[in-house]
Amino acid sequence: MIHYPRSALARELVAALKGETVFSDAPNGIFLAAPRRTGKSTFLQLDLRPELEAQDVVVVYVDLWSDLRRDPGGLVAEAIGRALQSHLGLVARAAKASGLESLSVGGFKLDTRKIGQIDGTTLPDALRALHETAGAPVALIIDEAQHALTSEAGETAMASLKSARDQLNRPGKTNLMLVMSGSDRDKLLRLVNTNGAPFYGSQIQRMPELGPDFIAHIASLIEGQRPELKPVDTQALFSAFQGFGYRPQFFMEALGQALSPLADGDGRFEVAVLQSARERQADDEAQMESSYLGLKPLEQAVLWRLLEQGQRFRPYDGEALRFYQEKTGDRVSAQKAQNALEALRQRIPALVWKSARGEYAVDDAAMHRWYRQRADEGRWPPVGAVMDE
Ligand SMILES: Nc1ncnc2c1ncn2[C@@H]1O[C@H](COP(=O)(O)OP(=O)(O)O)[C@@H](O)[C@H]1O
Ligand SMILES: [Mg+2]
Repeated sequence: MIHYPRSALARELVAALKGETVFSDAPNGIFLAAPRRTGKSTFLQLDLRPELEAQDVVVVYVDLWSDLRRDPGGLVAEAIGRALQSHLGLVARAAKASGLESLSVGGFKLDTRKIGQIDGTTLPDALRALHETAGAPVALIIDEAQHALTSEAGETAMASLKSARDQLNRPGKTNLMLVMSGSDRDKLLRLVNTNGAPFYGSQIQRMPELGPDFIAHIASLIEGQRPELKPVDTQALFSAFQGFGYRPQFFMEALGQALSPLADGDGRFEVAVLQSARERQADDEAQMESSYLGLKPLEQAVLWRLLEQGQRFRPYDGEALRFYQEKTGDRVSAQKAQNALEALRQRIPALVWKSARGEYAVDDAAMHRWYRQRADEGRWPPVGAVMDE
């Protein structure tokens, strides 16, 4: 697998986290949003993490989607606990072995039996201990951070992180750097944009997609290996990459096929890649259409309302209930609407997302684009028979 390094972006973010960028709020946390599969986790782990480490920052990385059966609050606590354990290592083991029940780290007592089993409320202590034992700033990278909002323990963990940040950081000295990423800007917004939100007042940034420099890099690899293909049409490849929704994996797969000695046709490979991009787009849309058509009428109506209203969606208000009735032709009670929402949430893959506070969103933000486009073209709602999958 090829990894195209994004070091300049990583260096920029680290400088901002450290407070070296004027007028930047980054020392309070960076919130990055970009659609699924556009390279967030790769960037965080293979570019940002090493850059932070090169600048002597202790990095804790946790992906809240790594195990969907686990409570997100638990995953965060566990990642911090593990880092603390490995840094305390010898000191803690020695203390434990000699029967000491607590360990004093930087003026604060740590229960030696509990290192590695911290919970939401002790996160600030654990982070302080980690910072003090390491004698270095700590960066906590939480991938798919919006998922924390789906459980109460996750919400508590987020609130504790904010308080840890406020305790540890001073103007000009960021001891706790927070980086949160999310595949859906609307959901990530819920961490920052309501009064009770854990990081109220912070801004969400769009994480830049891989761009023309990535394509140029790929083109030069191709030209290196297959000189007969020179010059590679980078413009066409970039259009194809955009057609794939800036998702490197699909793009690379198509490239691999088009460049394979077994590829049929004698045209330029760029044309074949562009063609696969179009097919992929059509497939993605057909997939959404068939999921939609496979729903019960009330589920369709509820999803429709959610797509139409976005952040303003209120599932059970009078207008919503009237909307469901109009679309289904039946009287719809709040209870029935709730059952439909629950069914949408329980599907695999889920179509609807719900926070611990009862806020709803479509699970995959790509559905919004699909809906918008169809609505603008007057092709909404999809009609027809359910296709076999
Ligand atoms: N910088 C990169 N260079 C090459 N391939 C990449 C790069 N970033 C991501 N990819 C590929 O794209 C796919 C999705 O990346 P990932 O980081 O998991 O996306 P996300 O976390 O946004 O869903 C992976 O298969 C990965 O190999
Ligand atoms: Mg990811």
